[in-house]
Amino acid sequence: MNKNKIFVACDTIDIKKIKRIIKETRNSKIKVGYKFGLEFLNSKNGRNFISGLKNEITFGDYKFADIPNTCSSAIKSVKDLNFNYITIHISSGLTALKTTRKVSGKTKLIGVTILTSLDNKALKQIGFSKDVKKVVLHQAKLAHRANLDAIVCSAQEVKIVKKVFKKEIITPGIRINKKKDDQKRVLSPSEAYKNGADWLVIGRDITKGNIKKNIQKLINHLEK
Ligand code: C5P
Repeated sequence: MNKNKIFVACDTIDIKKIKRIIKETRNSKIKVGYKFGLEFLNSKNGRNFISGLKNEITFGDYKFADIPNTCSSAIKSVKDLNFNYITIHISSGLTALKTTRKVSGKTKLIGVTILTSLDNKALKQIGFSKDVKKVVLHQAKLAHRANLDAIVCSAQEVKIVKKVFKKEIITPGIRINKKKDDQKRVLSPSEAYKNGADWLVIGRDITKGNIKKNIQKLINHLEK
């Protein structure tokens, strides 16, 4: 059987903490990759640290959202970091997605749908008239047209996305514990895999507190 796969969100600027996250999340049951987001990527030592990483699966969560020329130039400018995965907001538009995909090379380009911190009410506030599920489905079709390699959506939309997008599906908004923090569309790890997610993104539920215990808790949850 294939191993379950997770990206651990390394949301800190503390290099020592990042090293500890990498060391203490290693285990024999779950395949682990590391996701670096805006906080770490914009920090003084972030780029340098990532350039020294060897033999890890890396995910640069840049969430590009810009005009085609800027998005495609930006992905070229981080080529030296050899990320396995990089994100772009699908809302950047079809041309930006296609233009960036043309130059993404070996790096898998992931399209980000509606953020998992948004619900229908928040979507309305920013001017959308459709509900989350409809917009995510629409965006998944666009990701397919742009030949993107993967999609980020909430685990609640995986079944819908799968109808139109046949490649990797990556789901943040995962909660082992009850606390949702700033996330709105959440599911548990076992529910997310059951729905068909290929990778889960988990941050705080693993990196806050005792990392080794948190990983063991996740393993126990998945073995239940
Ligand atoms: O701590 P938590 O598990 O909520 O972290 C989720 C991670 O996934 C964060 O790094 C966040 O930036 C990222 N993410 C997300 N929702 C998306 C895309 C990325 O939460 N739609």
